[in-house]
Order: sequence, then C-alpha cells, then structure tokens
Amino acid sequence: MKAWVLRAPGGPQAFTLEELPIPAPRPGWVRIQIKAFGLNRSEYFTRIGDSPSVELPRVLGIECVGVVDAAPGSDLVHGQKVAAMMNGMGRQFNGSYAEYTLVPRTSVFPLETQLSWGRLGALPEMLQTCNGSLHLGLGVESGETLLIRGGTSSIGLATLALARAMGVRVWSTSRSQAKVQMLLDAGAERVFIDQGQLREAVRERAPGGVDRVLELIGASTLKDSLQCVRPGGVVCMTGILGGQWVLPDFEPMMHIPSGVRLSSYSGGSSDIGPDTLQRYVSLIESGALQIQTGTLWDFDQLIEAHRAMDANRSKGKMVVRLA
Ligand SMILES: NC(=O)c1ccc[n+]([C@@H]2O[C@H](COP(=O)([O-])OP(=O)(O)OC[C@H]3O[C@@H](n4cnc5c(N)ncnc54)[C@H](OP(=O)(O)O)[C@@H]3O)[C@@H](O)[C@H]2O)c1
Repeated sequence: MKAWVLRAPGGPQAFTLEELPIPAPRPGWVRIQIKAFGLNRSEYFTRIGDSPSVELPRVLGIECVGVVDAAPGSDLVHGQKVAAMMNGMGRQFNGSYAEYTLVPRTSVFPLETQLSWGRLGALPEMLQTCNGSLHLGLGVESGETLLIRGGTSSIGLATLALARAMGVRVWSTSRSQAKVQMLLDAGAERVFIDQGQLREAVRERAPGGVDRVLELIGASTLKDSLQCVRPGGVVCMTGILGGQWVLPDFEPMMHIPSGVRLSSYSGGSSDIGPDTLQRYVSLIESGALQIQTGTLWDFDQLIEAHRAMDANRSKGKMVVRLA
C-alpha cells in the first residue's frame, strides 16, 4: 500500500510517500480501507517534533473514514462504512496517512450515511472534540453566552455550529479582520479581534463576564480568558494554537477569579458514543446542522495540505481523500 511516512521531524516536505506492506489482520483489531481522513493540529505538532512520545518512523493520522477490509472475530463485516479515531492511532501505531490502517475495535464507529467520503472525513475527530468540550469540559446550557477563543479554527467553527444548534449565544475571535465576516456568516453574534487581551472588550459587552470560554489558543491567553468569565462560569482548555503548553508564574488564587472554574478537554474516542456520532452525522446529512469545512485535498497533495496548515489557510477542517 501507499503511505506517507514521517522518518524525522521537519517541515511539510518531511513526509515521504512509500510502499509499505498492508497490515496483517489481527483478532480484536479492524483493518480499514481508508477513503478519507481529516488533518489535525496534533499531526502538525508531531511533524515539527513537539510530540516526544511518538517514535519515528511513523505513519501519522489520528482519524479516518472508510470501509472494513478485515475484522476477525468482531461484529463488523467486510465493506461496512466506519470511522476510526485516536486510542494511539498515528501515534503509538501507524495511522491514517495511508491506503489501509489497522486499529483496535474500540476505536471504530460503524456509520450509516450517504455523505460523500470527503464530507464524512471531516467529522469524527472534530465532532468528538466539540461534543466533549461543550458537554464534558464546559457544561454549557441553552441561552448561555460562550466565547470561543481561536474561533476560525476547524474546532472553533464546528463548536460554533453545535453550540448555536443548542441555543447557545456564541461570541468568537480571530486575529484577522479579514475573517470577521466569515464568523458572522457562520452564526457568531459578536466577533473580537484577538491580540491576546480581551478582558476589557468582553466586559464592555458583558460587564459581569460571559458564561463560558472555550480556550483554543492555549496557555498564552488563559489568564486573560479567566478574567472574561462570570463567577460560576467555566473556562475550558481544549487547544494550544498559540504553541505555549505551559503556564509560567501561575498563582491560582491570583489568576483564577473567585468562583470561576478552570477545566480542560483532552479528548478520547470513548467520550463520544457511536449513537451520538451517528446522530450528528445524520443531522449534517439532513442539513439541520451546517458546519463550515475547509479544503479537500487528494492523497498525493499531503505535503501541500500541511503547507496550508502551517500558513493558517484552512478556514475549517481540511480533509484528504483517497476515494
Ligand atoms: N483537546 C482535544 O481533544 C483536541 C482535538 C482536536 C484539536 N485540538 C486542538 O484544538 C486547536 C484547534 O485545532 P484545529 O485543527 O481546529 O486548528 P486549525 O483549524 O488548524 O486552526 C487554524 C486557526 O488557528 C489560528 N491560529 C493559528 N496560529 C495561531 C497562533 N499562534 N495564535 C492564535 N491563533 C492562531 C488561526 O486563526 P486566526 O488567523 O483567525 O487568528 C487559524 O485560522 C489546536 O490547538 C488543536 O491541537 C484539541
């Protein structure tokens, strides 16, 4: 099979297209013929050498959609449509930047849908992350105001759509004036230009603070996000777009205002059940839930797709298709 292999950290050109053996079937594991896969920042961090636990060489890719090719001793049948994500995929063992992958049954979600592979490929990891952030991390309720920091990211845009569908009022951010209209068109009630300090602008609109903040920029803006929330409100750390993982000089009693809660969502495929994923996929297929997604790439364009990720040209989830 053809696979993009990362042998050493580097720029987008660090990936090499190689011929590898198709992985041998194994009880408890599912071999998937990959039809499409979403690109994730996690793969970017691994590519640049920021994931020390990932041993190279490795075929990256933490999610895919496709059809079951072999599933000895399992309830899945040959040809069945599935998604797979996480649980070591593309990190502890070879992942989805390939024509086939072999993953544990526990990472596989059967799906019934007529969505194109390109559209379906955008969904599994993105929906898992947004669903987990909204419900487990933030506990957001209908009628509340949610500020999404890093709003133009694929996770930011998808969370905006899911939150709006729940009746949540969404405020969003970008560093770029040129992306404001895109966020308004996607349903944001307000858009802030984020240069790292939002407290004053947010408090002008909501003097008591907003109900929830989804923090996708990371440690570099976290202290400021904590200042944007009302007592009893929640800030959930889900992303590290700013590249700063550690919060230096953090004094909890000084930096967390009284009554404000700090939470996180680090993701896992078991956080979203197969029924929930299927429900979202069906809502998207029917048009009841609309999520803006980014560019669709062909398999041989992987390097160009990573260049687009480096340059923040994505405007939503990027997908590579094989079918
Ligand atoms: N916890 C989990 O389970 C989980 C799962 C998936 C992803 N994530 C994380 O969620 C975050 C979003 O991922 P994604 O794939 O949705 O990202 P993405 O679509 O690639 O995000 C692109 C956007 O990020 C913003 N950005 C890039 N560099 C930035 C910087 N230095 N400072 C501020 N903003 C910056 C840009 O927005 P503007 O140019 O508009 O400002 C750009 O439009 C990532 O940190 C990712 O690791 C977490």
